Amino acid sequence: MDKICIRGGVPLEGVIPIGGAKNAALPLMAASLLTAETLTLRNVPALADIASMANLLVQHGVELTRGAEGEDGEHILELSAGHITSSTAPYDLVRKMRASVLVLGPLVARCGRARVSLPGGCAIGPRPIDLHVKGLQRLGAEVELRGGYIEARAPRGLRGAEIAFPAVSVGATENLLMAATLAEGETLLINAAREPEITDLAECLTAMGARIDGIGSDRLRIVGVPLLHGVAHSIIPDRIETGTYIMAAAATGGEVTLTNTRLNLVATVARTLEGAGVEVSETADGLVVRRRAERLEGVDVMTEPYPGFPTDLQAQVMALMTIANGASMITETIFENRFMHVPELARMGANINVHGASALVRGVPQLTGAPVMATDLRASVSLVVAGLAAAGQTVINRVYHLDRGYERLEAKLARCKARIERLQDGA
Ligand code: EPZ
Repeated sequence: MDKICIRGGVPLEGVIPIGGAKNAALPLMAASLLTAETLTLRNVPALADIASMANLLVQHGVELTRGAEGEDGEHILELSAGHITSSTAPYDLVRKMRASVLVLGPLVARCGRARVSLPGGCAIGPRPIDLHVKGLQRLGAEVELRGGYIEARAPRGLRGAEIAFPAVSVGATENLLMAATLAEGETLLINAAREPEITDLAECLTAMGARIDGIGSDRLRIVGVPLLHGVAHSIIPDRIETGTYIMAAAATGGEVTLTNTRLNLVATVARTLEGAGVEVSETADGLVVRRRAERLEGVDVMTEPYPGFPTDLQAQVMALMTIANGASMITETIFENRFMHVPELARMGANINVHGASALVRGVPQLTGAPVMATDLRASVSLVVAGLAAAGQTVINRVYHLDRGYERLEAKLARCKARIERLQDGA
């Protein structure tokens, strides 16, 4: 398995282009199942998770071609679900990426049936999908869990309903939003997730002919239509990649410009980091990140559904706080087990005490490079942030996690003077 080797302590200086949002691209790709016409997606990130979703859709019968590279090398995907040849999403594909469950709503809406493997848990928690299932049942589908699969049927089509989510769920909101676009009548999603990726999906669905009100709010009203048509849609920038590189720049004390992204996607993150002494300003060139003082100040962080501080940036901000002046209390409210980066950061000299859902970080002057182990996508990249700031060499193992969510990470950082390289297996 590949490793990443970093010799830290070098301030990042330069420009980092931000790619399309992974967590927008995945539901948008699944939305191709809702129409027989071609859905063209632009600004698609080249990531392992995107390839996994592509493989899944192809086995459903979606014709998928990589369109001409855009003028600046952007990635274009053309997806045509003219004939869905299978409504089964098999375990061996779904287990590789839990977002595969996002084909459930579109398949039931378009074909009247779906057999989707239960995704199973992952490192950060059991990741149930009860809200997806209950929502589909509210829309009139008969759903059974059998042999590790969700078996859903709606032979007479779905019917609009009112669905009040007891908890905010990004995936359940996306699955049911997509299903409702083809349901008979009106659907109301109450306590819907409001992540920008959901807004992007809703805007694309609207362009495909869906009738959706309340986009961007926690109440989405959808009036079903008989069919949707194809469209071309550009995917929003990846706010988690943006936030990750903001923290990498802040951790190393350098000045970095992030292009192809927007400040309003990371408003809460920028406000939080302002308190820590990180200046994030929007210029004509993009987002300019620099540390205001010699040392960062510890700030408290609590993860929340959008527009709160994103859970997908919790590990990264913790890495940053390990070298701040003073203490930082970091509370994870979304997932049950999202502190696996803590023991690895501790190996680098961080002083962190975990009490239930909160971690108390006491800043140290500097981290020391060490061999560390990645356990999930965002924990992996928090070790990269720490390694960039640490004195000495850090070797990060199991970097396949990184490839799921960060395109050309080493190249982007190396172009900003980081001493980082990928070591092929066995090196
Ligand atoms: C999406 O996951 C993202 N993935 C995650 O990003 C992100 O961390 C998460 O939203 C929260 O923002 C994609 O968009 C592909 P949820 P999702 O349903 O939809 C519980 C990354 O690193 N829940 O909002 O699975 C669940 O257990 C990934 O890019 C239920 O109880 O998240 C969790 O505690 C990691 N029942 C909470 O809700 C359900 O039916 C939030 O989960 C569904 C969820």
